[in-house]
Amino acid sequence: MEYLLGLDIGTSAVKALLLQATGEVVGSVNVEYPLTSPRPGWSEQEPSDMWMASVEGIRRVLREYRVVPESVRGIGLSGQMHSSIFLDRNYQVIRPAILWNDVRTSAECRQIEETVDSEVLFEEVCNPVLEGFTLPKLLWLRNNEPWNYEQLRHLVLPKDYVRFRLSGSLAMEVSDAAGMLMLNVRRQVWSEPVLKSLGLSAKILPPLVGSAEVAGRITKEAADLTGLREGTPVVGGGADNACGAVGCGVVTPGRGMVSLGTSGVVLAHLEEARLVTGGTVHMFNSCVPNEFYMMGVMLSAGESLRWLRRQLGGESYDALTRKASAVLPGSRGLVFLPYLSGERTPHGDANARASFVGLSATHGEGEIIRAVLEGVGFGLADSVELLRSAGWQGSSLRVLGGGARSPLWQEIIASITGLSLETVNIDEGPALGAAILAGVGTGVYANVLEASDSMIKVERTVEPNQEWQEIYGELHGVYKNLYPALKHSFASLAKFS
Ligand code: XUL
Repeated sequence: MEYLLGLDIGTSAVKALLLQATGEVVGSVNVEYPLTSPRPGWSEQEPSDMWMASVEGIRRVLREYRVVPESVRGIGLSGQMHSSIFLDRNYQVIRPAILWNDVRTSAECRQIEETVDSEVLFEEVCNPVLEGFTLPKLLWLRNNEPWNYEQLRHLVLPKDYVRFRLSGSLAMEVSDAAGMLMLNVRRQVWSEPVLKSLGLSAKILPPLVGSAEVAGRITKEAADLTGLREGTPVVGGGADNACGAVGCGVVTPGRGMVSLGTSGVVLAHLEEARLVTGGTVHMFNSCVPNEFYMMGVMLSAGESLRWLRRQLGGESYDALTRKASAVLPGSRGLVFLPYLSGERTPHGDANARASFVGLSATHGEGEIIRAVLEGVGFGLADSVELLRSAGWQGSSLRVLGGGARSPLWQEIIASITGLSLETVNIDEGPALGAAILAGVGTGVYANVLEASDSMIKVERTVEPNQEWQEIYGELHGVYKNLYPALKHSFASLAKFS
């Protein structure tokens, strides 16, 4: 029996997944690590934690499922996007990684917009300038920690750092490179015009490879640590959202995905990159060679429910959603804005904050929980509307991520967006996509579409509930008016945080 290993370097944990070459998932292991927020709006992690969790994840998954190292044909990596890892000339980490949901870089976003010609910038990177992306983080380092910037020789993303520790090879593939705001997305090369305008050099950026191309091989040292065989190929892999799309079969035009992890993502696969102006739609390279996807990203989707759960004493998610299902749709006029740590899509506002609006003395736990589920649903629907106006014509979304397992949340999202939500037979997310890419890169599968379509099947469809749809249609209108009304207050409140 031959196996493929998929490793996803997530925001809260590493997931190591074993896939049989025949397409059956054998099992997976999660190893968690901490995230710190040294100041409001900051979000950091130690790259060494990502590495140690990866080593433990690989060791445990091989041991638990009794897989001999010789039978692992290849490894694929996936990981949180945009999160910046700064290395010195000896490939040592200079400071903690600055993560995708860190919004300290508003000044650097303005610096980019003021320095780079706006037309050139958009033609090259095909994306708006947003705090979470990597380029503003690089400039933040230069502006605020010049002593660290001086030492910087290599800038990598989490999965590429883990690849480096596994194989000794520095490489990045285009789906993650696209989220750095330094890639010419359509030509798939580092953008000289953007880098030059900002006085930066492409020398600090890794060589680009394809998602399913072999980008390195397990070293002797990594083999000793992980239990893998020295020389096992490691493919390029992909950004977690791009690998998530592979892992649920959203790899051909017309298909879409909604993912409820820490962030909330609505993604649509495209054959060609589109220039969507004036908004916060992201346009990135897919793991399917020379294809693309557009998406909207909420910063706190699953995170909103996780936050509420902590405040309510840590009850199980099942208990929380049971309470929410016992109250009326619309939470009797209680609306939640899910902007706990600012927002990307649709508002692009680092100062935005979460709010409960309409709270009365008659509301209880059930309404509060349901309002959070509904608020995230309204936020996702905002992204769906933006993708629709950018030309997406799909009528269903495949669901992915922990939050998406709740049938109540699925029905709420279906009813708010008016789309059918499809559950697939294998719900393993980005780690599965990464394993599939390892299979394509090592010749087990012919290509991404064929591999993913042969494994992934739609199992269950949740249709919008017509009664709820009417209520949510009206409440979405109320929800949409709240951000513009509160925007200035959020900005004034920022100084108190
Ligand atoms: C996408 C984004 C998040 C992270 C989560 O742009 O920032 O979805 O990829 O890991």
